[in-house]
Parts: sequence; structure tokens; C-alpha cells
Amino acid sequence: MRIIITYGTFDLIHIGHLNLLERLANMGDKLVVGVSTDDFNLSKGKQCLYSFEERARIVGALQCVDIVIPESSWEQKEQDIQTYHADIFGMGDDWVGKFDHLAPACKIVYLPRTPTISTTELKRSLAKIDPVAIQKIKKGLDGVLDIVKALE
Ligand code: CTP
Repeated sequence: MRIIITYGTFDLIHIGHLNLLERLANMGDKLVVGVSTDDFNLSKGKQCLYSFEERARIVGALQCVDIVIPESSWEQKEQDIQTYHADIFGMGDDWVGKFDHLAPACKIVYLPRTPTISTTELKRSLAKIDPVAIQKIKKGLDGVLDIVKALE
């Protein structure tokens, strides 16, 4: 049984996350995913739109993910590798070299990131949406809902 372990924030889950998790899952038999807790994120200066509980539930619901664990510190990885008997530690290649110190414990792989998508970019795009435009879209959708109800 070959076990893979990875870590991430996974806020506003997107195709880049799914590509990475599926590729890692295909490298073995079981995929363990450490999802960073809200406090750990804050300590890195990251604020999430979704809470840890929500992010962990969404990641855990993916077919390619077997076990979700909280990631609350940088130092826990060595212990997690032992606890879950991980054979491979994998991350996207924005982390190249950053986890090489774990090499005595298991094999380290850095997979190419999916280009042009990141949570930071998604947050930037969302911030640009004009609140007045959002209200107009909402009004339009309410109108459609009224029509659907009238047809029922
Ligand atoms: N990842 C990837 N391809 C992307 C985005 C992320 O392969 N386009 C990988 C990262 O390299 C990491 C994992 O997905 O191994 C989890 O990513 P996360 O920590 O959530 O970061 P990002 O989506 O890059 O978000 P941010 O912009 O906040 O860093």
C-alpha cells in the first residue's frame, strides 16, 4: 500500500487544486490531505473566505481524497509522515526545495502547478466585481425565480 501526503489551504477550491490532488492520488493507493487551520493561516498572514471546517469538508468530499487532517503548524509534517506511514510527500512546484529536509522520511515530489489559476487571483477578481452589478444580477435572478414559481 503506497500512501501519499500533501498540504494546502484549499480556499475557493479550483481546478488547479483538483488537478494536483488527482495526480497525487494516481501515484499511490491512499491520499492524505492536510488542510491548514484558520489560526495557522492567520499566522502566515492568509485570511480565508471559507472556514477550516468548510474547506476540510469540501476537500474530504473529493473522490481522490481518502483522509483529511488539520495542518496547524509547519513542524507537524515529520510526525504526520510517520503516523500515516506516508511513502510520498507531494506539493505543487511553487514549493520546490521548501520541503527537501523531509527527504530522509519519505520521497518528495513537486508537481507542475496548473497555470493561470490561484485562489489569490480568484479573490482579486471577486474584489473587482461592482456591488451595484451584483445587486442587478440578483434582481434579474429573482425575476427568473418568480417566473419559475408562477409556472409551477
Ligand atoms: N496548486 C496547483 N496549481 C494551482 C494552484 C495551486 O497545483 N494553479 C497547488 C499548490 O501548489 C499546493 C496546493 O495546490 O500544492 C494547494 O494550494 P493552496 O495552498 O490552496 O494555494 P493556491 O491555490 O495557490 O492559493 P494562493 O493563491 O492563496 O496561494
